[in-house]
Amino acid sequence: MFGVDRVFGIVKQLSGFRLTESRGKLLLQWQKDGGILTREVERKTSDLIAGLLVNCSDKVLIQKLLLLCAAYDQIEKELLKAGVIASCEMGCNPVYDLDPGTGCLYVPTPFIAGLRSMLGIRDLVGANKEVEIADLGSGLGLPVFLSTLLGFCATGFELSPVLMKATRHIKTVFPDLPELGKANFIEADFFQADLSSFKAIYTFLWDNALREQAIEDLISRMPSGTVVCGYGMTNKSPNGSLLNLIRSESVSGRKISLCRRI
Ligand SMILES: C[S@@+](CC[C@H](N)C(=O)[O-])C[C@H]1O[C@@H](n2cnc3c(N)ncnc32)[C@H](O)[C@@H]1O
Repeated sequence: MFGVDRVFGIVKQLSGFRLTESRGKLLLQWQKDGGILTREVERKTSDLIAGLLVNCSDKVLIQKLLLLCAAYDQIEKELLKAGVIASCEMGCNPVYDLDPGTGCLYVPTPFIAGLRSMLGIRDLVGANKEVEIADLGSGLGLPVFLSTLLGFCATGFELSPVLMKATRHIKTVFPDLPELGKANFIEADFFQADLSSFKAIYTFLWDNALREQAIEDLISRMPSGTVVCGYGMTNKSPNGSLLNLIRSESVSGRKISLCRRI
């Protein structure tokens, strides 16, 4: 079991992330233990992000996405090094076992899958910035932060106080990403939460039974037209026919299913 202070302490040590360019190299810099650390960012990451936003002339957005991606990569490396993230026998994904025995596992959405999901949601809801997006089980917050970078209002619901404290801190450690400040995190069981203001729901739940239960719950209470984007979602729900699958694609070994409640 990992205490709040352990995860929070690690995330807290890494603050003030910035991306700079020097002699054609992209460098991620951050503060740690009173000093500044620097790491070169792989061009591959940069190319992937630029490739996804190929028609996007907003170079500032690309830079911001790149900064978030590189910094999350670093945060995950630190958590791994400190033994907070354990490898899981189910695959090569890093997994947080936050509360052994309860099935409360946090597995992050890979960056590119998260970005693809949010771009898919944007295709369906349009660029209307008033639209609110929820992430059910928001973990370390990446999908929520991605939504705010794309201009949406976004809220993450998360059971774990460890992750809640970490995400609330992450909101404040990117001086170059003021959009992250618009992210909202609520420590709650999403089954009990009021979701009525949300036009789009994102979710990535590791446990199959929990995922099916969440989809059933969404089908039963969200109005027609609600966009539901599930990463790793297979539609086995009894009421599955009430979700219209609009697009499905495989990214980083799992399917992104973009659906609309009929
Ligand atoms: C697989 S992780 C995904 C995290 C994040 N959405 C992402 O994609 O990076 C699922 C998260 O859901 C949380 N969770 C599971 N059941 C929940 C519930 N009923 N209410 C709120 N959070 C829950 C877990 O604690 C875990 O952090």
